[in-house]
Amino acid sequence: MNMRFASLRSLSFGVVTAVAMLAAAPAAFAQEGHGAPKPHRESWTFAGPFGKFDRAQVQRGFQVFREVCSSCHAAHLFAFRNLAQPGGPEFSEAQAKTVAEAYKVQDGPNDAGDMFERPGRLSDHWPSPFPNEQAARASNGGAYPPDFSVLAKARTYEVGFPGFLIDIVRQYQEQGPDYIHALLNGYKDAPEGVTVPEGAYYNEYFPGHAIKMPPPLSADQVTYTDGTPQTVDQYSRDVTAFMMWLAEPHLEERKRIGFQVMIFLIVFAGLLYFTKKKVWKSVH
Ligand code: HEC
Repeated sequence: MNMRFASLRSLSFGVVTAVAMLAAAPAAFAQEGHGAPKPHRESWTFAGPFGKFDRAQVQRGFQVFREVCSSCHAAHLFAFRNLAQPGGPEFSEAQAKTVAEAYKVQDGPNDAGDMFERPGRLSDHWPSPFPNEQAARASNGGAYPPDFSVLAKARTYEVGFPGFLIDIVRQYQEQGPDYIHALLNGYKDAPEGVTVPEGAYYNEYFPGHAIKMPPPLSADQVTYTDGTPQTVDQYSRDVTAFMMWLAEPHLEERKRIGFQVMIFLIVFAGLLYFTKKKVWKSVH
């Protein structure tokens, strides 16, 4: 009896310690943080188990990327043909071709051994704005504009305890898009007593607050043809949705198949239950 009590006690001590450590760990992270406010949670159409991209939004986001961001940021995994594939902006093939042809792509060597330029094709990848990282840094005050290919999934922020557990249960995975949206709207005058280094800009949400990307968006900068408001907030929502699609082009398919698998497992569990009842019927 005593033995049992002793092991029970040590077990409960272990559980309490583990819970205490779990609770303390994010607190320690938070203290190390840089005092950045938590990005606001937006309502994204692609969130949740039934999430889908809003085609018109991803198309507008592509327009913002093309007209603004792509002058500094590359997207090396992005090919023109992706614009017409299912689950994304779903432009027609002819539209994607027109976009591709507007760019010059280096090809070659030809029969004379020379490289030459030709209009882009659907199979070409998005042309990078700089030939290499050094050139990109040289034009951006030493900072490298990160490649957009998977950026929306590569950024997040500290959620803390117990929020991160709740997010797992709720399947909330949109911390990256929330951060990017907040970042694009986060340019402010530096607070009193804070000096921002030369060539950097104060941004509330950027770790350390001094970002070397000049505020990229301003109202009415990109002309929308569908009557959507031309505000910084709207542009940043749209371009973030586009970046999320870029980072996870098969998101819709993944969610659809995930749901079908859940339904299958539920039905299968029911069938197994009745099979078990039948097989063991004669055994009491
Ligand atoms: C003039 C060049 C330029 C343009 C235009 C530009 N960026 Fe940037 N961007 C940068 C640079 C440089 C950095 C790296 C900043 C740093 O590390 O301090 C950056 C960083 C970023 C980051 C990463 C921030 C982080 O947490 O590391 C995101 C997201 C981003 N840009 C989004 C955008 C979007 C969206 C657009 C278009 C609306 C855009 N940028 C347009 C130069 C640019």
